[in-house]
Amino acid sequence: MRSTPGWQADRAGLRRTSLRRRELRADDVAVRVDYCGVCHTDLHAVRTHTGEAPLVPGHEFTGVVTEIGHEVTRFAIGDQVAVGNIVDSCGTCAMCEAGQENFCHEFPTLTYGGTDRRDGTTTLGAFSREYIVRDEFAYPLPAGLDPAAAAPLLCAGITVWEPLRALGVGPGTRVAVAGLGGLGHLAVKLAVALGADTTVISRSADKADDARRLGGHDLIVSTDERQMAAARDRFDVVIDTIAVPHDVAPYLKLVALDGTLSHVGHLGSVTVQAIDLLAGRKKLSSAGSGGRPATAALLEFCAQHGIAADIELLPSARVNEALDRLERSDVRYRFVLDLSDLPQNR
Ligand SMILES: NC(=O)c1ccc[n+]([C@@H]2O[C@H](COP(=O)([O-])OP(=O)(O)OC[C@H]3O[C@@H](n4cnc5c(N)ncnc54)[C@H](OP(=O)(O)O)[C@@H]3O)[C@@H](O)[C@H]2O)c1
Ligand SMILES: [Zn+2]
Ligand SMILES: [Zn+2]
Repeated sequence: MRSTPGWQADRAGLRRTSLRRRELRADDVAVRVDYCGVCHTDLHAVRTHTGEAPLVPGHEFTGVVTEIGHEVTRFAIGDQVAVGNIVDSCGTCAMCEAGQENFCHEFPTLTYGGTDRRDGTTTLGAFSREYIVRDEFAYPLPAGLDPAAAAPLLCAGITVWEPLRALGVGPGTRVAVAGLGGLGHLAVKLAVALGADTTVISRSADKADDARRLGGHDLIVSTDERQMAAARDRFDVVIDTIAVPHDVAPYLKLVALDGTLSHVGHLGSVTVQAIDLLAGRKKLSSAGSGGRPATAALLEFCAQHGIAADIELLPSARVNEALDRLERSDVRYRFVLDLSDLPQNR
């Protein structure tokens, strides 16, 4: 075993500690973690942590390969790579065969809080200086993408990219994005780059300038009943990224005939009245993370279109401040931790 410094949850929040990492297997790469985004899922995890299993968050990161296992051919030492929230899957089920490792029938191994398929240990995330990952689940970071701003593409970005693609969003599609946060602002940028006519739905009227700067053409204030009523049946696709439990009915009302509400934000039970789907043959769907082919395609698309997250970069020692501010929606639009304040040497 080897060790690396990182930020682990305890009752007071995240505390610096020394984590154990496995020695490299034949198909592993060691990544020096340079930048890791702070996802709302990390906040959910820290705030609901029971202490039963160790928790080190962080599942959208970029860094540099520092060591490779002897069977690794896809990477060399010094390569810039990106890793998301899935680090392994069975590789043989129908979903894995289809390149949808995120839906693996045996459940994909999550970057943290997952169970390693080979040694049964709990995976520890990338709020740490080093991560050991199977080479298949690391992606070359295309040249031209800023490694700090690209990190959030690996969870926030891919989570909205897959439904946008699967729902056929392209030139002229009328898309609305509900919740302008980490996922939401990337959904807007990606939908705009795909050619969609894109609208933001937000609690905050003061995000209207940002919505336009991101390429959106309009902002609907979700708490304004008149504005919501005026947008009835207007959108082919609504991507709902809201981070708290909420009623989906007002958002289904905005979906056009045969359109879809993709509920990718807060995951939990959702109550739907059939009539809200019936009137307009509307569809309710969900999605999460992405398969390997889609993740690679997203990175290429972002490099081509110059898309990355709008970030506030903080030294990793300020991780608790980042979580507190994220809880208050006080970030435009993603915190990224700079891990260079942790020593690389063990
Ligand atoms: N499906 C997946 O695989 C997946 C992957 C990553 C994250 N997630 C989940 O997606 C959600 C969003 O994550 P994120 O990182 O984008 O979070 P975020 O940056 O905090 O953004 C969430 C947005 O939700 C809206 N919101 C927050 N609190 C609200 C409240 N009390 N009432 C109404 N709206 C509220 C806000 O938008 P406005 O201020 O514009 O209204 C906020 O900007 C989280 O629940 C996260 O766990 C899911
Ligand atoms: Zn995430
Ligand atoms: Zn599988």
